[in-house]
Amino acid sequence: MKNRINQLLEEVNQLIASNQDELEALRIKYLSKKGEVSALFNDFRNVANEDKREVGQMLNELKNAAQDKFNELKESFAGSSTSDQKSDLTRTADPVKLGTRHPLSLVKHEIIEIFSRIGFTIAEGPEIEDDWHVFGALNFAPEHPARDMQDTFFIEQNPDVLLRTHTSSVQSHIMTQQKPPIRKLFPGRVYRNEAISYRAHCFFHQVEGLYIDKDVSFADLKQALMYFAKEMFGAETEIRLRPSYFPFTEPSAEMDISCNLCGGKGCPFCKHTGWVEILGCGMVDPNVLENCGIDSKVYSGYAFGMGVERITNLKYQVKDLRLFSENDVRFLEQFESAN
Ligand code: DAH
Repeated sequence: MKNRINQLLEEVNQLIASNQDELEALRIKYLSKKGEVSALFNDFRNVANEDKREVGQMLNELKNAAQDKFNELKESFAGSSTSDQKSDLTRTADPVKLGTRHPLSLVKHEIIEIFSRIGFTIAEGPEIEDDWHVFGALNFAPEHPARDMQDTFFIEQNPDVLLRTHTSSVQSHIMTQQKPPIRKLFPGRVYRNEAISYRAHCFFHQVEGLYIDKDVSFADLKQALMYFAKEMFGAETEIRLRPSYFPFTEPSAEMDISCNLCGGKGCPFCKHTGWVEILGCGMVDPNVLENCGIDSKVYSGYAFGMGVERITNLKYQVKDLRLFSENDVRFLEQFESAN
């Protein structure tokens, strides 16, 4: 056995190949499953126990030497193929510049990716909506100011055709179509009748989350949001929930994270409070469940909604919202990414 190993080792060290086919033949002869080296490994069980250690080492050396030799020969061919490419006269003289993903897409994908790890899947709904899905089902009182034309875009003065003002509207679609358990994310574009400035735009993007099942509690909501905040902004991030009001959740809260610029010490960005607001959330109001045909005595759930522009601003400190829709390449190019 030892002689055979030494003999093969010598053979391997002297191998040459002048093209890919010869190289492949060598690989089959020495390195494949049925090759010479594997055959020796198969015989290894017949080696006397006291020799096993030494023979084992020799075998491994042989295998590594064969693999190294093979890689070395392979590389020499790879080198020649790049030199072939260099002389490809049909190639463009200027390398093609690849585009970059839009920062809002990057952040949206990151949000989706984080929640998908805890079981959320995506659903989408229409941007052109009716009153019931955007407001009625979600427990907005008839005289709620959001229903006013000052805030909402209506189409051709018809109060029942409007552009959705929030992705919470997808809640009404999903809850009327599916039975719990429901664990969904609704990313999408929303519209509001706002004057465009550095801090407001007439359209922007949200990601809404909805979880409906038996025995869903506020603790579940808090746990999911804490997981999200730490994954998105770093493990040292802290969260705080402040009581708030939304027609479709009861109780409702707004969530702040410890300022990711100053680490919570206080800076101009967080107006020296150490906290920045990132989303609204709460337990789905029983009225909403009933409006959508879900028995509120059996099921409970939580919902949350966040602005993608807001999260992007926190991550990348983009001061002017308008940059997101102006498509200035000098801005967009700064967000190169691998995915
Ligand atoms: N729809 C709200 C908005 O556009 C955000 C929101 C708040 C969504 C609380 C929720 C929630 O699901 O529970 O401002």
